[in-house]
Amino acid sequence: MQILRTPKELSQTVDACRINGQSVAMVPTMGALHQGHTSLFDLAHQHADVVVATIFVNPLQFNNSVDFDKYPLQLDHDIQLLEQHAVQFLYAPTVDTMYGANFSTSVHVGGITDVLEGSSRPGHFSGVSTVVAKLFSAGRPDVAIFGQKDFQQIAVIQRMVADLDIPIQIIVAPTIRETDGLAMSSRNIRLSGSARQEAAAISQGLRQAQDQFAAGIRESEHLIKTVKSAIEPTSAVIDYVNVIDSASLRDLSTASQGCVIVLAVLLDGVRLIDNHILV
Ligand code: PAF
Repeated sequence: MQILRTPKELSQTVDACRINGQSVAMVPTMGALHQGHTSLFDLAHQHADVVVATIFVNPLQFNNSVDFDKYPLQLDHDIQLLEQHAVQFLYAPTVDTMYGANFSTSVHVGGITDVLEGSSRPGHFSGVSTVVAKLFSAGRPDVAIFGQKDFQQIAVIQRMVADLDIPIQIIVAPTIRETDGLAMSSRNIRLSGSARQEAAAISQGLRQAQDQFAAGIRESEHLIKTVKSAIEPTSAVIDYVNVIDSASLRDLSTASQGCVIVLAVLLDGVRLIDNHILV
């Protein structure tokens, strides 16, 4: 695997692939890779000849500096995993390379960023869309892969590529879960042993709500109460549990097929998010 450090290296590498007639998939990450990420690399191989992974812990998207400082960094381990999954290129710029001294541009997607993660983490999505726009602009992949766990992030990126006429297909990969149902996340390793056990309640709540939906219950309030009742006995502090429309991300009072239960909790000082598309 070749490691690229600057936008120019990324750009020239992708140009060379295209001259060879190869299509390119990009998988943007912040590193601390786990099985959730490796499933994205495997999916990327199904969509393109060449897979470019990116690792960049993006300071612009952390509204909390403690969260940024505590974000796990494991580049050697990550490189091993990338090689095991036959990723051909890793783009891993430094903060100074990504954001030069006079950097002063921000990409802001309106509307859908005002709710949920956007209202709890002001500025987060501008940070995400700014860095993803830069990755897309330097890498110009044919497709880019993102995990469903970050449901709102995908909606924001899809809105951005549509609004800015960016010719990149966004592919959504299913959430990969631990055996007890906890959605895989780089943040999970920050949970203490007991908090890690308690964290299983999150997906249990979502599953119970799905069971109720399948049994005919449609009142969002009822489904939300079910999720909350599963989580409340734990030490997790619930930020939100909402039933939303998958496109507008607006709250729905009545659930229907394809709408989404989204949630965020703070457990052991670690922010965990998850979601479930009701079927
Ligand atoms: O989902 C992530 O890991 C990040 O938000 C992303 C998309 C790599 C942008 O920094």
